[in-house]
Amino acid sequence: MSASSASLFQIQDLNERQIFQLFEKASRLSVEFFKSGNLHNLIDMNRAAENVVLLFFLEPSTRTRVSFEMAALRLGLKTLRFDDVSSSSLAKGESSTDTLFNLMAMHPNALVVRHGNDPELALTLRNLKIPVISGGQGGLSHPTQALLDVYTVFKEKGSIENKKILFVGDVKHGRAALSSLELFSQLRAKVGTVSPEAMQYEGKLPVQSFSDLQSGLKWADVVIGLRVQKERNSRVPKISDEDYKKYYRLDVESIQPLGKSALIMHPGPFVPGHDFDPRLLQDKRCRIHQQVENGVFIRMALLADCLSLWSKS
Ligand code: CP
Repeated sequence: MSASSASLFQIQDLNERQIFQLFEKASRLSVEFFKSGNLHNLIDMNRAAENVVLLFFLEPSTRTRVSFEMAALRLGLKTLRFDDVSSSSLAKGESSTDTLFNLMAMHPNALVVRHGNDPELALTLRNLKIPVISGGQGGLSHPTQALLDVYTVFKEKGSIENKKILFVGDVKHGRAALSSLELFSQLRAKVGTVSPEAMQYEGKLPVQSFSDLQSGLKWADVVIGLRVQKERNSRVPKISDEDYKKYYRLDVESIQPLGKSALIMHPGPFVPGHDFDPRLLQDKRCRIHQQVENGVFIRMALLADCLSLWSKS
């Protein structure tokens, strides 16, 4: 038996047709959920109830873990969480890969996984026979965050092509930023960045780099704030917190050049005193909580696809 073809490890695993089909499914799930409060008309709940999704989270998470669990429970799936590393046998020295093999011996039907840079674990995950959906891999990729970011813009603006998307802050070390940038680019949006030198995008995609926040904001249809990934960039020269706040923080004053119909987004979490001013949550252009809401429906659509939960009728 080969590895599951229903898995999602990186955004490149999906082509454009599959991405827009996923958006259409997420939209149907959302319309049905808000109309009737359940998904009985779209999902085979009996089939769902036979499946257990294991949430295997080796790094901290609020949004992604709860969003996947909420999505699974709304679909009628059962969930099992492995997310407290300190109370697991990892704390006794067991490797992540051996932990995974033991969990697989208990036969979950699908796995959602967040992990750091662990090549052995990454390779093992790629060869599992059950569907595996990434909830974020080290500093490399976070495909479902990218999907929910792009879906949010698609819902608001009706299209992605030629939309001007500005990423502000730590693009280099942020998996959410990198996957989102890649997906916007794949769908022919124009991507710009405003970043300190040590946090600039270093990939191969065409990106317009702005030297200051104001000129980037004047250009943008969407601005996406980013947290500095302090846990991942300890070896690069640091910009002082004071300078970061002065030149890169999105706040009610610095955001002034942004157009009236532009959107303000952030993958979260943001650090109030550092990269993002919580007062912006009250700005009519802010879509941060819509991103979170949309993420649940994107993850529902992915889980329903990979476990074949759609009703036949
Ligand atoms: N955006 C995101 O991945 O948030 P969490 O780390 O809280 O899951």
